[in-house]
Amino acid sequence: MRTHPAHGDSDLKRLFIHNRALHDVRTLAEIERIERAWIVPRVAELEEGTPPLASRAEWKEALDGLLEKESAGTPAGHWLAEEATRDQLAYVVAEFAPDGLTEAQNFFPAVPRLPIRSQMAVMRVLIDEFGCGNLQQAHSQLYLDLLAELGLPADLDAYLDRTGDETYAFLDVFYWLTQRAPHIEYFLGALAYLEASIPSSFTVQARACERLGVTHGRYYTEHLHIDTFHRTEMQVAIREYEAAHGLDPTRLWVGALLLSDLIGTAFETAVARAREAA
Ligand SMILES: [Fe+2]
Ligand SMILES: [Fe+2]
Repeated sequence: MRTHPAHGDSDLKRLFIHNRALHDVRTLAEIERIERAWIVPRVAELEEGTPPLASRAEWKEALDGLLEKESAGTPAGHWLAEEATRDQLAYVVAEFAPDGLTEAQNFFPAVPRLPIRSQMAVMRVLIDEFGCGNLQQAHSQLYLDLLAELGLPADLDAYLDRTGDETYAFLDVFYWLTQRAPHIEYFLGALAYLEASIPSSFTVQARACERLGVTHGRYYTEHLHIDTFHRTEMQVAIREYEAAHGLDPTRLWVGALLLSDLIGTAFETAVARAREAA
């Protein structure tokens, strides 16, 4: 498989590495510097451009509208599902390896920022992400199984130089959302969107695996199933947050728009590069 040329040490790559290391004053300052130039203005811009929502019901309606619009898929998704070669699918799988190999680890710092009933709903999601404590069912293990079948490395470090900034942005955003965003509603809205969108969006990769005879497509098919529950749990988490603290539904919506943009851009870019690499 040909890979995209090394991207060098971009800010978003350094941010990912810093986020996963122990922080000292120097690295934390670097994290804050990169986030101030990148995600802070992006969220402010989204917030300014979004008409305020008045209630949780309005947020739910806006989210359902976005999901409905996205459920038609994109030409890139259709191509991956129906036309990509095994090498091209492997290219996309490799691009998202830093996500699959670290799956859901960056959600944990949100837990202490939530009221207890909201924590319980997020914990039920996290427990599933970690296979309810069974390694064979952990989502990162399902990704490892897929990588092995496609002849790709199991080691996270092997991917760091070939991962695009668009993918790093999708990974880095959760470290900000959980640890440094001034309001945790951005995280709740972002994860509620992500869990709700996956049962539709992963049909693409599930179909590609099925069509190409990749037998470890279970990473995708498991998500088609489990994220229908995670979608409901995130609505519970938000309802309980509101019951305990009140809620700014516009912040939930900004979180959803942010994630929709970041994951959409990461996917489209990965597919475009896979096609180039053909
Ligand atoms: Fe997962
Ligand atoms: Fe999930």
